[in-house]
Amino acid sequence: MTESQIASAGSESTKDPAASNAAPADEPAGALRHAVTEPRVIAVANQKGGVGKTTTAINLGTALSAIGHRVLIIDLDPQGNASTGLGIARGDRRQTSYDLLIHRAVVADCTLPTEIPNLSIVPSGMDLSGIEVELVNEPGRESFLKRALESAAGPFDYLLIDCPPALGLLTINALVSSQAVLVPLQCEFFALEGIAQLLQTIELVKHSYNPTLDIQGIVLTMFDQRNNLSGMVANDVREHFGEKVYRTVIPRNVRVSEAPSHGRPVIVYDTACAGSRAYLSLASEIIDRERHLAGLAPGA
Ligand SMILES: Nc1ncnc2c1ncn2[C@@H]1O[C@H](COP(=O)(O)OP(=O)(O)OP(=O)(O)O)[C@@H](O)[C@H]1O
Ligand SMILES: [Mg+2]
Repeated sequence: MTESQIASAGSESTKDPAASNAAPADEPAGALRHAVTEPRVIAVANQKGGVGKTTTAINLGTALSAIGHRVLIIDLDPQGNASTGLGIARGDRRQTSYDLLIHRAVVADCTLPTEIPNLSIVPSGMDLSGIEVELVNEPGRESFLKRALESAAGPFDYLLIDCPPALGLLTINALVSSQAVLVPLQCEFFALEGIAQLLQTIELVKHSYNPTLDIQGIVLTMFDQRNNLSGMVANDVREHFGEKVYRTVIPRNVRVSEAPSHGRPVIVYDTACAGSRAYLSLASEIIDRERHLAGLAPGA
């Protein structure tokens, strides 16, 4: 599949008006790149498990890279799902996000290419699960990732951090390092449960370490059209969070759940499926918000 196929699959198939404002596939997002000198660092976070954080990080990363952005995914979850989902075998994960945090490794030494042009990953390893204990007496331990990511300035436009399902030290490190948080919210009964705690944690991090941290947006995931509850939850979330909720909704789609076992983003596994089209549309919407933040007109 070519980059232009990916880009056109997104704009053809989506009903989202935001999609038409995406940078064309043959324009390497130059206007935005010139406006943004540092990489935009986005934490994909929600302490609730299985809500679509990793799926969103992988497919948003793929969509952004397909339209010319240079993207680095940082797998900060000991489960290593982002690494597996991008086809990185355990045996190939020589230096990981653990080394970034603990051994002061530089980003370039931990970065592996993926089969998608412009998309790289810092994989994770199981050793990451002991980090809370290992760093318990380390002063400044909440900023270790931030320190490490300073070495990523230059070669990347976007860093997407895939957080684990907890509000522990790893997620705190991600929030301290990021300019914005992207919150995937699953369309199910308990969706809003725990969100207050996440917002409180974001406020705490803002107050103590990272005053400019912002909520990039909330993306509704695993929306099931046949289920009334999905629609009710979506309405509820929009009522609470208004403009912060993306118009694009990610549907529940079996191709999305199959893709990781093939070590591929769904956008590559089945470009035309509803899940892929939704993630391409989400990327367009996110780029529009980025352009807005950078003071550029949509599509400029
Ligand atoms: N839109 C979707 N349609 C169908 N299945 C999905 C969709 N999004 C995610 N899934 C599946 O749901 C499961 C959880 O998704 P994912 O791993 O992205 O969530 P997560 O929030 O990263 O989980 P964790 O908290 O464990 O890190 C996975 O099996 C994934 O393939
Ligand atoms: Mg995950």
